[in-house]
Amino acid sequence: MSTPTAPADHGLQAIPADTVSLSDYERHAQARMTASAWAYLQGGAGDEHTVQANAQAWQALHLVPRVLRRTAGGHTRTQLFGRTLAHPLIVAPVAYQHLMHPEGELDTALAAAAQEAGFVLSTQSSTRLEDIGDAIAADDLRGPLWMQLYLQPDRGFTKALVHRAEAAGFEAIVLTVDAPTSGVRDRERRAGFCLPPGVSAVNLQGMTPPPTAEVPAHGSALFDGLLHHAPTWDDIAWLRAQTRLPIVLKGVLHADDARQALGLGVQGLIVSNHGGRTLDTVLPTARALPRIADAVGADMPVLVDGGIRRGTDVLKALALGARAVLIGRPCMHALATAGALGVAHGIRLLRDELEAAMALTGCATLSDIHPGLIDRD
Ligand SMILES: Cc1cc2nc3c(=O)[nH]c(=O)nc-3n(C[C@H](O)[C@H](O)[C@H](O)COP(=O)(O)O)c2cc1C
Repeated sequence: MSTPTAPADHGLQAIPADTVSLSDYERHAQARMTASAWAYLQGGAGDEHTVQANAQAWQALHLVPRVLRRTAGGHTRTQLFGRTLAHPLIVAPVAYQHLMHPEGELDTALAAAAQEAGFVLSTQSSTRLEDIGDAIAADDLRGPLWMQLYLQPDRGFTKALVHRAEAAGFEAIVLTVDAPTSGVRDRERRAGFCLPPGVSAVNLQGMTPPPTAEVPAHGSALFDGLLHHAPTWDDIAWLRAQTRLPIVLKGVLHADDARQALGLGVQGLIVSNHGGRTLDTVLPTARALPRIADAVGADMPVLVDGGIRRGTDVLKALALGARAVLIGRPCMHALATAGALGVAHGIRLLRDELEAAMALTGCATLSDIHPGLIDRD
């Protein structure tokens, strides 16, 4: 006789009643996570100046609303890579989401799809990419489904990974270029963070580890070892030849790099400093964005992430030239607090805030959002 099984718990924990903004999720998540996992999630490189500066740079921009404009019938729709998106919010790639919740990336992806938001799966996902594809690829209403890629030393494995992503229904490859080596994340090191049993980069299983480089006596483990495998511009051409999917470079901050990408058949850029996790004191993304948008003009969509916490931040990003924005840690706070329900609610909160910010600045559509809404003094 078969035993009835309990219905799968797809993260239907209750959302605490006082949760009205993404910062409320941050508070609730900290109370639910281990100190070590919290240090991994929240921490940044060095003294975390860039982590702070990212959020502060959006806050420091002042809006100058227009009044008495007709906004009834407005909407948040936008176009990206030939698709119409309901709104410009995308969940950023974040590694090892089983640290935050037992359902990990699956809950985040289901929530993003339910809210018509984009979802980017990390190379270091703790859920198989095929399981994400099976869960949401066929959903007609979902937003973009993209695969983030760290080029692996084993290029044959990298190619196979890209082809698996294509077969699973992913629609773009987001190549992260700002982390040829891991940032030195002091908070995480002080907490002694290491992955708990059962949480691993499952999509990288079976990869042949690179031959260990002979580091000469008094040599550098970095320059004489690891960096022999770091990607360079030559690899962009290699990757372009491996996939039919659009390639989006994530982690561009310099206008010259943006122009170089344009010449190499890259289809989009994400202005990002990895949420302040790679190199401390790097330029906040709100400051880098206008330079990159100017450098590529209308030739390529530019997206941005880092410190975006409010609908007003999203509006400012669009005013400075972004087509869409990615949200990292806040989605993880919502995941840790209330699973899929929390992530869906968190995305909805941000979308509602964006709509309110549009109405209060006189913008009926995203194309009404322009640089003149931001004070220049
Ligand atoms: C815990 C954590 C893990 C991350 N893992 C990845 C990753 O695997 N690949 C990647 O390209 N970016 C990764 N990021 C960076 C995010 O994609 C994104 O750039 C950043 O979180 C945006 O800043 P925000 O957290 O302030 O929104 C990670 C960020 C965090 C917080």
